[in-house]
Amino acid sequence: MIKDGAVLVRDGLILGVGTRAEVEALPEARAAEKIDWGGRVALPGFVDSHTHLVHAASRAEEYELKIAGASYEEIARKGGGILNSVKKLRAATKESLKKRALDALKLFAAYGTTTVEAKSGYGLDVANELKILRLHKELAAEQPLEIVSTFLGAHVVPAEYRGKAGGAERYIKLMEENLLPEIGEKRLAEFCDVFCDRGAFTVEQSKRVLQAGRQWGLEPRLHAEQLSRTGAARLAIIMRAASCDHLEQVNKGDVQALGKSETVATLLPGCDFHLGLKEYAPARALIEAGAIVALATDYNPGTSPTLSMPMILSLACTQLRMTPAEAIAAATINAAYALRREKMIGSLEVGKQADIAVFEVADYREIPYYFGVSRCWMTVKRGRVIHAAEQTAI
Ligand code: NIG
Ligand code: FE
Repeated sequence: MIKDGAVLVRDGLILGVGTRAEVEALPEARAAEKIDWGGRVALPGFVDSHTHLVHAASRAEEYELKIAGASYEEIARKGGGILNSVKKLRAATKESLKKRALDALKLFAAYGTTTVEAKSGYGLDVANELKILRLHKELAAEQPLEIVSTFLGAHVVPAEYRGKAGGAERYIKLMEENLLPEIGEKRLAEFCDVFCDRGAFTVEQSKRVLQAGRQWGLEPRLHAEQLSRTGAARLAIIMRAASCDHLEQVNKGDVQALGKSETVATLLPGCDFHLGLKEYAPARALIEAGAIVALATDYNPGTSPTLSMPMILSLACTQLRMTPAEAIAAATINAAYALRREKMIGSLEVGKQADIAVFEVADYREIPYYFGVSRCWMTVKRGRVIHAAEQTAI
């Protein structure tokens, strides 16, 4: 923590950081334009390392069923869930998907997020998966937030392959032969993700998809141990995946194994909150075992319709029992590591990108403490102000 601090920025990168006196003494500071943050708290911009950014609409129609007691899996079995969002996405125009994503990205910025990982996975056929991944590229080029693209073709087996002998295998073959070559050649994604769980893909199938992805230069990451314990976290560790995400159902052995590995344990407490579940991931045990713990929103219409990292910090503190400092590290530098960008983003250090979130608070602990509202006052991406609050009220 630096009291009365300052950051000097040139060409989008941090040239100096320290106390105001130190930074002002730098020769390059003399002619610099000055922005006064008025004693507020400045953090590295949040790195949201797990989102399903591109989707066509909410699933508010499932919300009341959940409140009445239907489980996520029951709703999925009745044709709701991920396949509901797939139907909606296939029927949507590219323009409407783009508008929804652009509106969401403005809100991400307003809540202090400067980098957003984005997964495909609501297309589940060649044309629609490519439609989403191409959109990630357009979004990256046309608005200021950094977009990290992930291929999640293996979200669930699409409806047209279900109930047929070898359906899942045929869909995996389609990904291997028709999707991954195009994604690899056109560099439409950096990562390959699989939903490895009951009702989605088995450990064996997940391994096959991730290996195929790797052959095309896509690094693995996994949705793991969310609804049931399948061994997905162990697969992530063995494959040296960048991260395994969710982890509500891990056992003690998994926790110890994650503690010894470089695979980031990404926790998504927004899901448990939205689904009204009592069982959150064992964050304290993971931290004590030495795991690299990250936090993300999992912004998606089915399990976590929030894009607020400050809200995720509040949940991390009250439900996961993480300290505010642990939660902030998990939402910045550890998340940057999960996206293989720890050298460029995630902390305020010389040489890194000037990605900064400034909060209207007197003490950094007030960021999670004031839950359900955003106190984000200014957001800076690569040295450019991309969000500024209209009023200042403390
Ligand atoms: O991260 N678990 C799988 N995927 C998402 C949910 C997707 C959906 O329900 O639309 C998740 O929770
Ligand atoms: Fe997810």
